[in-house]
Amino acid sequence: MTISKQDFPANFIFGVATSSYQIEGATREDGRGDSIWDTFCREQGRVSDGTSGDVACDHYHLWESDLDLIKAMGVDAYRFSVAWPRVQPDGKGAINPKGLDFYERLVDGMLERGLKPYLTLYHWDLPQTLQDDGGWVNRETAYRFAEYARVVAERLGERVASYATLNEPWCSSILSYQIGEHAPGLRDRKLALAAAHHLLLGHGEAVAAMRSVVPASDLGIVLNLQPAYPASQAPEDVAAARFADGTFNRWFMDPIFRAEYPQDIWDAYGADVPQVQDGDLVRIAQPIDFLGVNYYSRSVNGASGNVKPDESSYTHMGWEVYPQGLTDLLVRLNEDYTLPPMFITENGAAYPDELQGEGVHDTERVEYFKAHLGAVAQAVKQGVNMGGYFAWSLMDNFEWAWGYSRRFGLIYVDYDSQRRVWKDSARWYRDLLQPVAVAQ
Ligand code: FCB
Repeated sequence: MTISKQDFPANFIFGVATSSYQIEGATREDGRGDSIWDTFCREQGRVSDGTSGDVACDHYHLWESDLDLIKAMGVDAYRFSVAWPRVQPDGKGAINPKGLDFYERLVDGMLERGLKPYLTLYHWDLPQTLQDDGGWVNRETAYRFAEYARVVAERLGERVASYATLNEPWCSSILSYQIGEHAPGLRDRKLALAAAHHLLLGHGEAVAAMRSVVPASDLGIVLNLQPAYPASQAPEDVAAARFADGTFNRWFMDPIFRAEYPQDIWDAYGADVPQVQDGDLVRIAQPIDFLGVNYYSRSVNGASGNVKPDESSYTHMGWEVYPQGLTDLLVRLNEDYTLPPMFITENGAAYPDELQGEGVHDTERVEYFKAHLGAVAQAVKQGVNMGGYFAWSLMDNFEWAWGYSRRFGLIYVDYDSQRRVWKDSARWYRDLLQPVAVAQ
């Protein structure tokens, strides 16, 4: 498959993405407080290789050369996240000026290099002190989040082109409070649904708090969405797919874009549904300027569980490679909802890369990117308003419960020396983004 820049609209943004806890390290420096991930990593058995983000890619110190790398790739924009406990170590009250200084240097460093800053306010590193008070299960956290969002917006202002409130609230609620795979590692559906509601409320409150501070910046949210297919046309399988779509996608999309929870799932959750106060849904559904979509794979649902099609290929995460799912998802969202422009804010694949001499020949990742960019181009052709695409990730990093055992980077990181090595995929992306020669 060939794909080129001309397959996308003229003002389409290409970028790379990371998040604070996954790359920064320096967890005890310059007044940063503990986050729930610091705590979680200390607990035996939570992270498969027993590691933590204490050092990670040492980006807190290497940020300038990392920005140079991003620039050298020829992208338009860099999506990164701010660590709440750096800015406000207790999640409320005192602001840590050194934390804000770091992100200000980073943003100015991007602007100096002609890179557009795409900032995410919450990529899962909740201040531990807020978790001690219940974390996202506590409604108060939503208001604390809005306050923190306003502080960041006041300092960084409209230098930041785009602010996303939350990254993947499904992960920071269901995966974290019900499935227990992510911090804080609880296993309780009722708590998870309360957390999800308060995350959504926090999103709405944060947008409201930031709007007048940075009127020219785009404000939005990033969701991980996964199209759900039935394993067969049997009614039980079709119902299973509908349920999966409801819990994973509609549970987040409907409140944000329709000011309601999906009735079928609400009924199915019974006594576990969250307490919704008057006005919450209107608050959650206020207008935003973009929807960020993180896409990695699809689900195939049967009445007795998920199915993994034999004929498919899988990444190192065990996730099926299914680019068609991305086109299907974008076209469907565009049909079912009235949406602002959509951005693919994450898309990528882990493979067991090996350093070979001075390179990494990650052919499968290149194929993955080509196919998925092709899928986005298809959606554009079918009339979907797409604003941009961010590859996950700039470089290998701390992959949450998988520690350093999964590599998603375009750039290879040798963790012993902190050396960055261009993989073939990074070179491929750079070549794709070469300025298009205009015929004379
Ligand atoms: C997403 C996360 C991101 C990264 C990728 C692989 O769910 O947002 O931080 O871990 O998965």
